[in-house]
Amino acid sequence: MKSIVFAVCSIPLLVLGWDVANEIRLPGSTFGPDPAEAVVDLLGIWTIRFLLITLSISTFARIFKRPEIVSFRRTVGLWTFAYACLHFLGYFTLLAEYSFSAWLEDFSDRTYITAGMAALVLLIPLAITSTRNWQRLLGRRWRSLHALIYPAALAALLHILWAAKASLLDVSMYGFTLAILFAERIVVRIRRRQDKGVVNG
Ligand code: HEM
Repeated sequence: MKSIVFAVCSIPLLVLGWDVANEIRLPGSTFGPDPAEAVVDLLGIWTIRFLLITLSISTFARIFKRPEIVSFRRTVGLWTFAYACLHFLGYFTLLAEYSFSAWLEDFSDRTYITAGMAALVLLIPLAITSTRNWQRLLGRRWRSLHALIYPAALAALLHILWAAKASLLDVSMYGFTLAILFAERIVVRIRRRQDKGVVNG
């Protein structure tokens, strides 16, 4: 089943690769007037979608009492990181044109790039420590470390809002989904605390 999830996550990238090949063959045929921006945007859109899907997995597992689906979280999470890296790489090659100084200038002058970089950097330790070995090695600290997904998601949302490329409807949908996922986690925590209180009390 994990390989099916892996294959499904790769579909947007394969479609994008196909579209890029068409664009190279017939310039102007696929991405409109600014293909570079369109490719970077598409990779960004898939990054936020996968980030939200990753966060939804444990919520769905709890609501529908299907704990087994949590085992797909790592695959989807690593794909999120892969799309984020490709989005950054797309930006660095196509928009910053391999210029480190352009990147640094964007990083300090454009708040949406600062927020995007913060989101990407926060995802790095999560990707590195996503294996069972790291989970075992870090014990309880693994959970605390993986709570970095929340500031990463918030930074990503600010990045999208400040980039002002996505429509207001899209940004609201991302924000609304994130708010629901956060709210569900807060409710779960409060309930767990209350249950503990009942047991201890
Ligand atoms: C988890 C991290 C990130 C997420 C979820 C994300 C997501 C997005 C999304 C959804 C868009 C708007 C696309 C649209 O609706 O048109 C976007 C635009 C953009 N992102 Fe990111 N991004 C992330 C990190 C980064 C990083 C690290 C950089 C580069 C340093 C970056 C550079 C850009 C640029 C330059 C645009 C605008 C492209 C244009 O001018 O068309 N992003 N991003």
